[in-house]
Amino acid sequence: MRIQVLASITLLVSIFVAMPSLYGSPADVESRIDALLARMTLQEKLGQLSQSTAGYTRSDAQIRNDVRAGRWGSIMNLRDAQQRAALQRVALHESRLGIPLIFGRDVIHGYRTVFPIPLGQSASWDPELVRKAAHIAARETAAEGIHWTFAPMLDIARDPRWGRIAESLGEDPVLASALGAAMVRGLQGDSLDAPDAVAACAKHYAGYGAAEGGRDYNTTWIPETLLRDVYLPSFAAAEKAGAATFMSAFNDLNGVPASGNVFLLRQVLRKEWGFDGFVVSDWNAVEEMIKHGYAADSTDAAVKSLRAGVDMEMVSTDYYDDLPALIAAGKFDVKLVDESVRNILRVKFRLGLFERPIPAPPPASAMLAPDALAIAQRLATESAVLLRNEGSLLPLSKSIAKVAVIGPLADSRVDQMGCWVADGQPGDVRTPLAAIREMLGPDRVAYAPALKNSRDNSQAGFAPALEAARNADAVLLFIGEEQSLSGEARSRASLDLPGAQDQLVDEIAKAGKPVVLIVLAGRPLTFSKAAAHAEAVLYAWHPGTMGGPAIANLLFGDAVPSGKLTVSFPRTAGQIPIYYNHMNTGRPPRGGSGRISERVAPEGDTSRYIDLDNGPEYPFGYGLSYTTFQYSNLKLSSASMAKGGALTVSADVTNSGKLEGGEIVQLYTRQLAASLTRPVRELKDFQRVTLKPGETKTVQFTLSTASLAFHNERGELVNEPGMFQVWIAPDSARGLRGEFKAID
Ligand code: BGC
Repeated sequence: MRIQVLASITLLVSIFVAMPSLYGSPADVESRIDALLARMTLQEKLGQLSQSTAGYTRSDAQIRNDVRAGRWGSIMNLRDAQQRAALQRVALHESRLGIPLIFGRDVIHGYRTVFPIPLGQSASWDPELVRKAAHIAARETAAEGIHWTFAPMLDIARDPRWGRIAESLGEDPVLASALGAAMVRGLQGDSLDAPDAVAACAKHYAGYGAAEGGRDYNTTWIPETLLRDVYLPSFAAAEKAGAATFMSAFNDLNGVPASGNVFLLRQVLRKEWGFDGFVVSDWNAVEEMIKHGYAADSTDAAVKSLRAGVDMEMVSTDYYDDLPALIAAGKFDVKLVDESVRNILRVKFRLGLFERPIPAPPPASAMLAPDALAIAQRLATESAVLLRNEGSLLPLSKSIAKVAVIGPLADSRVDQMGCWVADGQPGDVRTPLAAIREMLGPDRVAYAPALKNSRDNSQAGFAPALEAARNADAVLLFIGEEQSLSGEARSRASLDLPGAQDQLVDEIAKAGKPVVLIVLAGRPLTFSKAAAHAEAVLYAWHPGTMGGPAIANLLFGDAVPSGKLTVSFPRTAGQIPIYYNHMNTGRPPRGGSGRISERVAPEGDTSRYIDLDNGPEYPFGYGLSYTTFQYSNLKLSSASMAKGGALTVSADVTNSGKLEGGEIVQLYTRQLAASLTRPVRELKDFQRVTLKPGETKTVQFTLSTASLAFHNERGELVNEPGMFQVWIAPDSARGLRGEFKAID
C-alpha cells in the first residue's frame, strides 16, 4: 500500500514537474536552472550532456525508454516529425523531471528550400540576403519541430582540395564574419523562443579549414597570431551575434584536439568572449581523441573533453558511461558536470522548450513558400560569378534561333542541390534545362547530356552533342563537379574537371559555335583548358532549388551578374595554398612571366615557380558584369590617422557600360612595416552599389583604428603606428591606391 501511494505521488510529481511554471518564470532563466539542477540525479545530469543519433541505431521502443529515463539531452537527425513529437511528449510528460529534448539537424544551406552552397552564398557579398535565406531555413526547420541546427560553418578555407570549402564562407575573415553573423541572426531571429527560430551552432571551432594537404580531418598547425587574425574572427562575430551553441572540431590544433582544447574553449570562447551557451562536440570527436593519441582510453577522453569545456557529447557516450565511477571515486569534480548541464539548460530555457508547444505536422504551404523560392532564386542569381565574357557574348538574345544545352549538369536535380541537403527533395528543383526550355520554348532548345555525370569517362554520348552544337547558334555547356565530389570527406588531390569533360569541351569546340561554360561545382576547379574554348564562363556553384531560373535569367539578360569570388582560384593544385592575403616575403616576384625558357630564370631568385606565374587564375574579389565600372577620384579625409581616430576613404564608381548593374566595391589596406610582417592586402570593408548606365556614385568607407589592429607576437591585439596603403578596388588584384600614416 505504502509503495502504491509513493508511486502515485511520484507520478503526480512527475506530471506536475513537467509543467513549466515549476521551474520559475520564463524571464528568470538562472533561477529556473538552479531549481532544476537541484533535483537532478547524476545520471540525469549526464543524460543532458549526451546527444544521440537514435534515429540511426536504436529502435523506437528503445529510444522511448531512454527518453523516459532521462538518458539523452538531445537527439539529432531524427527524420520523422511525428516521431520527434512523440518523443518530446515522452520527455515532457513521462520523464521524471520533464526536461525537453533539443532536436538537432544539419540544415546547412536550406531545409526544404535549398539555397546555394555557403561558398556560393558568400559570392553574393550580401549579408542581408544571406540573413533572409537563413531565416527561411529556420522557419521551415522549426515548423517540423526541430530546435537547433549545426550551422553556420565558419571555417576559413584557403585550400580548395578540402571538400568542405563548399560549406565555407571563403578565405577572408572580414567577409566570413559579416556573412556568418548574418546567418546566425537569420537562424535565431529576434528571439530564440520565437516559433520560427532555431538555435545556431558556430562550427567547427576551430582551425578545421586549415587541414594539412586539404585532407579532411587532418592535423592543423596555426600560430596563435594567425589563429587570432584569420581563423577566429568569424567565430567571434558569431558569438557576438548571439550564437546559442558552438561545435568543437575534429582536428588537432597545434597538437591538441579541438575537442579537448582548453585554450580554445575555456580561455578564448568562455573567458575572452564571454560565451554562455553550450558547446557540442563534433560527431564522435570526444572518443576520437584516443586515435589522435591525446587520450589513453574513453575515460581519459571524457575527462579531457569535459574539463576543456565540451558540454555535450555527440554520438560517443564516454561522459555517460565513464564519469560516474570516476565521480564516485572522488577523482572528478561533479561541479564541472553541473556547469555543463547549466549551459545546456540555459539554451533550452532560452529556446522556450519548456513552454514551446509541440508543433502539429506543418501544412505543405510551410515549405517552399513563394517568398522562400524568391529568395532562393535571388541568392542563386547573386552568387553566380561571371569569369569571362569575350566580345560581350552574354547576355544572349532571347530571340536566338536555337541553343544547344549540353553537359551532365544541365539537368541534374540532385547535383544542383549541393553537398549538404538532408531534407531537400530533387523533385522540387528547377534545373537550367527546364528553365531555358520554359523561356525559349522547347523547339529552340536542343539538349544532349553527353556524359551521364561529371565523372563519366565514356565518350559514347559525344556524337549527338556535337550534332546539337553544329545545329545551334550558341552552346550552353554545363560542366563541373557533381554534388557527391564536394562536402565532408570529399577532398580531392586534383582540381581538374573530372571524367571526360575536358574532352567533351574539345569536341564541342569543333562545331565552331560560340560557347558559354556554366560551371556547377562545390569548390574552385582548375579548368583553364576548357575555358580557352569558351567565350564566356559563368561560375554558378551548386545553386540549389532555384538555380535553373537564376541561371537562365542571367544567360538571357533578365538578370545581370554581380557575384564576386570569395576564394582565390588557382591555376593548378600545385599552387595551393594560394590566398590573396599572403605575406610579401623578402623576395617577392617582380611580376613578369614565370616560365623558364633559358638556363637562368628571367625573374631572378624570387619567391616563385619556374614553371608557372605566381598569381591565381582568378583572384579573390573578382567577378565581371554585363556592364563595366570605372573607379576614379580616390580621396582620403586626411594623410594621417591618430590612434582612436578614424579616416574616411572614398572613390567615385561610374557605370560606363550600357546596362544597369550592381558592383561590389572593396576596401583593402596594407601596413608596410610592423613588429610582425603583415599581409600584402587585407579586406576591411565592402559595399554594393547599383548604378544605371552613365551614373556615378561616391562610395565612402570609414576606417577605424580598431579595423587596423592585429595580434602581435604575444597574442595581444595592437595598433602599431606606421605607413599604410589603402585601396578602393573591384577585386584584390587591382584598385585605386592611396596611403596614410597611422600615428600614436
Ligand atoms: C560534421 C558536422 C555535422 C555533424 C552532424 C559531422 O560529421 O563534421 O559538420 O554537423 O557531423 O551531422
